[in-house]
Amino acid sequence: MLGVSSLFLLLLSTLSEVGFSQNTLKLSRDDFPPGFLFGAGTSAFQVEGAVAEDGRTPSVWDTFTHEGKMVDNSTADVAADQYHKYKEDVKLMSEMGLDVYRFSISWSRLLPLGRGAVNPKGVQYYNNLINELVNHGIQPHITIYHEDLPQILQDEYGGWLSPKIVEDFTAYTDACFREFGDRVAHWTTLNEPNVAALGAYDSGTFPPGRCSYPFGVKCTVGNSSVEPYIVVHHYLLAHASAAALYREKYQAKQRGSIGINVWALWCIPFTNSTADVKATKRALDFYNGWIINPLVFGDYPEIMKKNAGSRIPSFTKSESERLKGSIDFLGVNHYITNYVEDDSNGAKNNLRDFNADMFAKFRTSKDDAPTSKVGPTDRLVVPSSMQSLLEYFKNEYDDLPIYIQENGFGGTPNESLNDTARVEYISAYLNATLGAIRNGSNTKGYFVWSFVDVFEILNGYMQRFGLFHVDFEDKARTRQPKFSAYWYADLLKKSKEMKIVMATQQGMVTQ
Ligand code: NOJ
Repeated sequence: MLGVSSLFLLLLSTLSEVGFSQNTLKLSRDDFPPGFLFGAGTSAFQVEGAVAEDGRTPSVWDTFTHEGKMVDNSTADVAADQYHKYKEDVKLMSEMGLDVYRFSISWSRLLPLGRGAVNPKGVQYYNNLINELVNHGIQPHITIYHEDLPQILQDEYGGWLSPKIVEDFTAYTDACFREFGDRVAHWTTLNEPNVAALGAYDSGTFPPGRCSYPFGVKCTVGNSSVEPYIVVHHYLLAHASAAALYREKYQAKQRGSIGINVWALWCIPFTNSTADVKATKRALDFYNGWIINPLVFGDYPEIMKKNAGSRIPSFTKSESERLKGSIDFLGVNHYITNYVEDDSNGAKNNLRDFNADMFAKFRTSKDDAPTSKVGPTDRLVVPSSMQSLLEYFKNEYDDLPIYIQENGFGGTPNESLNDTARVEYISAYLNATLGAIRNGSNTKGYFVWSFVDVFEILNGYMQRFGLFHVDFEDKARTRQPKFSAYWYADLLKKSKEMKIVMATQQGMVTQ
């Protein structure tokens, strides 16, 4: 039988055939600072399945998918079935040598009524998962809310559109800290509040699917000009309230830290004209600063307040004080880059949404640009943007500690298990991360999205990000490592612990 090391040699020679640079091949965890965390992630709705088991009630995503809103008409009723397969998954993580696993808690599994008493079976499931991780030497890195609001709160008062959500969210986080906080070093309150608000209330592509013409076309209700700003306002107030609670009641004893996550876009001026350069800064302020500025400086970027006018809510003095400094770290999800072209004519348009308020246009191609050939064709993938972004955050936001909580490559459902494009993508972005760290960025960890193939929020099962392939046709939801899983394990120097049997099942070694 082929030894693991010769297996890796063979796989690495495959890599060199597809044009991997020496630098890429040399990447090792020893290049990163001691204590740098390597992980992979998922989210509750996307991975767990078991949607109607043990007392869980529907989230807005259950409703949305059951209304047939996904391109492939899919639901996440079973998803990757991690609810039943968490032990197997933790074993795979341990064999790979992951330091840390990022996952989220399902609000409606923990609190089926959205508030009030915890569901003992929900508590038990997350205790089991956390204990299994800890027993394998893997840190749980928990996102409290990954966009799966209990439907009951949506129905009762309109969910994130209402200020009532702040109290319920805070109580939900209280239950999380109380039940699990003794074993959790990193809490992230919210996943991608910027994109979550735009998807759900501007384009209407995420639940509850609200939007208005001409910004979203398929909705019957909503107001794309106003609602995303209101929703983000409530997200931020909810975060600040949860962070204050954690710091006052739990942090001294549990000694964890609390942060937020942002979908972090990098932008490059379309031309070097002053107008395009200014438009690029506006786009960074709109997409990233919308969330981060209030948490660091206590208010929205000036340009947003100016351009959105009365459509963007204001913080009171005490809200602003509470927001300021309310993150111990920033979670960054970074995948793509956009070229930005000035569109000052946009100011003349009275009917505007968030994107129109930027007075800028995004472009995804430019002939003379240093674009990489990797990645989905409709997205601009520029690995060096990771370095630019991290250095920008360092300079702009006071050297804030950063965890790259998501970065990864979306393949097709029938992509080969020999997923060299994913390896190329991940290694290039990791190299860029290293470049930023060497220039002083306080980046402390990196998570591949996703650990296994999951239900994708935009494309159902039509897009696969996993290090492990999941057979969604098979009741058993069998996992098979892709080449990227071996590559990542090799980077983590734990390849010897990978099970040879998993490798030989693939037939990858003969390619
Ligand atoms: C963003 C989201 O956090 C996650 O839910 C999604 O699956 C990935 N990025 C990929 O689109």
